[in-house]
Parts: sequence; C-alpha cells; structure tokens
Amino acid sequence: MAQADFYSDNVAPVAGAVLRAIVAANAGPAAGYGADAVSQRLQRRFGDLFEAEVRVFPVATGTAANALSLSALTPPYGAVYCSSVAHIHDSECGAAEFFTGGAKLVPLPEQDGRVSVETLREAIAGAGVGRPQKVQPAALSLTQGTERGTVYPVPQVRALCDLAHEHGMKVHMDGARFANAAAGMGVSAADLTWRAGVDVLSFGATKNGAMGADAIVVFDPAIAEALTYRCRRAGQVFSKMRFVSAQLEAIVEGGLWLDLAGQANRMAARLGSGLGRLQGVELLHPVEINEVFVRMPPRMVEGLRARGFGVVDRGGGIVRLVTAFDIAEGDVDALLDAARTLE
Ligand SMILES: Cc1ncc(COP(=O)(O)O)c(C=O)c1O
Repeated sequence: MAQADFYSDNVAPVAGAVLRAIVAANAGPAAGYGADAVSQRLQRRFGDLFEAEVRVFPVATGTAANALSLSALTPPYGAVYCSSVAHIHDSECGAAEFFTGGAKLVPLPEQDGRVSVETLREAIAGAGVGRPQKVQPAALSLTQGTERGTVYPVPQVRALCDLAHEHGMKVHMDGARFANAAAGMGVSAADLTWRAGVDVLSFGATKNGAMGADAIVVFDPAIAEALTYRCRRAGQVFSKMRFVSAQLEAIVEGGLWLDLAGQANRMAARLGSGLGRLQGVELLHPVEINEVFVRMPPRMVEGLRARGFGVVDRGGGIVRLVTAFDIAEGDVDALLDAARTLE
C-alpha cells in the first residue's frame, strides 16, 4: 500500500464536498466574471462568516492573493514589513514587489515564525520616516499560521495591528493556513482578523480541500475599490467564476473549513509528539497548526524517503512534515513505526 505523503498540504486531494459543489455549479449557462448567482451568494456567505460587510475576490493562488492584497496597501515607495521566513519574501519570486510596482519587502527577525511588537517598533523607528532616501513604512504582513507551524494569538495580532496603524500603516494577513490557525485556537474568523485590526486577508482554501481557489477578503471598502481593477489587470477575474466561487462556498459551508483543518492539526500534533519522543529527533518549533519541523539524523530521512513518506532534508537535517485533512491516525502511526526502526 502507498504511504501517506507528508511533503506538503499541496499534495492532498480535493475534498468531496468541493467536487460536488463544482458539479452542482455546472448546471447550464451562468453569467461570467462573478455576476453569477454562486459568486454573488459567496459575498454574503463570507459576510456571515466574518460577521461584517466584506468584499471577497476569488483568486487562483495564495501568491496572487498576497501580491494583489499588498498592491492595494502600499505605494511603490512603501516598505512592507514581514518576517524573514515569510512566504511573500522567501517563496513568491518577487510577486509582491512586482504587483506593488516596486515596494520593498523588509524582512524582520522572527522567533518560531512570529514577528514581535518590539521588533516591528524598532524597524519603524529606524525606517527614516520622511526622508526621501528611504522607503516609507506602508504595510505589515503577518502569516497566520506561520511558516514555522505556529500561530499568532489574538492579543499579539491586535498589538501588532495597533502599532502598525499608529504609524499610518495597513495590515495584511497571509492566511494560506488561516483555517488551521482558527481551528487550532478555536477563535472566530472575525476575532482573528478585522476585530484585531487586520485590513486585508489572503484566505487560503487550496491547501485545505479546495481544487484551486483562494480568496482576498477585504474589510475596508476603500481598499476593495482598488482591488476591483487590480485583480482584473492581473488576470485574476475568472470568466467562469462560478466554479471557483463554488469551491470557496463549499469550504465554508457548515464549518467544513474548520473540520478539515482540525483533522490536519490533530494529525500534526500526533506526529509531532511521536517524533519528539524518538532518539536523535529534535522538535524545532511548537506544533500549533498542521506543520511539524524537526531535525532528523540523515539515516532516518533517507530511510523514510525510501519508504515513500515524502520526507525531504531542507538543509542541516531540518525536515518539514505537513498534514492535510486526508491524513488519518494510521498514516501518522505508519510513519512513526518506520521512524522507530531507523532510530
Ligand atoms: C504561508 C504561505 N503563503 C502563501 C502560499 C502561496 O500559495 P500558492 O502556492 O498557492 O501561491 C503558501 C504556499 O505554500 C504558503 O505556505
């Protein structure tokens, strides 16, 4: 039997409910470019979910969601603060810089993937506000859950947002794993975003059961206006929008997004605690969402790879294991059993 693949949540299949929603949306003709009934309904569904008037822009990828969100928050001469391990900085091939027309990403030191209030305060203090030689503080981008498998608790999000706003900056949240963070903390979508001061959210669904659908969720109408044009210009307004909207609607329907993410989180917790007990394995960060970071002996990495577990040494023996909604306890235990034989 093939082993479960822990390489990434991108390797996971599509949730059945999402596929059924796509099929249901495939009934006869429907207006294009978001004027269809499903896309219109999606606006209200997300409004209910976030307990606020929001504008939702379905997009194809998390990178598009991030780069376009930021393009609406900063002028080309702006500084966008993020953690040094932020996906926008590390893994999006300059998309944020490109779509903002050249704004500068300023990577900040992080701990377990999180930027602290003190770090941000120091960065702003040293930014050279008002000096034409310097890019001007414009936005803060927080990743929730972080690239190190942790979360920002709500008070920390609020403190960071307050500081950013005091300095006239806007706040973006990269929520590629927003569902995992919300499920992990048991916090509402509203509490984790606009109530804490977040202006724009990249709402991830593809890693959590969708086929190819993420969304920009905007809490400020003035920002939404600009995104109407920016999304179109970036080729992110789908002619057959209903099929993308249907995925997003299915994901949030009846709390499915939290159920799927909760399963992934529980499997990561099981994996993390199991691996942490093995000889020679060091757990590098607290496991708070669906990602586990460990340092493993090369023999174990090789052995697990040879057995088909999708385990990759990312340098210095550091391995990231990711769980998705389709991972079951038996899959985790199979990996742990195999790892035990390689201690
Ligand atoms: C934290 C984070 N943000 C954004 C993205 C970008 O998503 P996509 O690959 O769909 O562009 C990823 C993907 O791995 C991610 O991990």
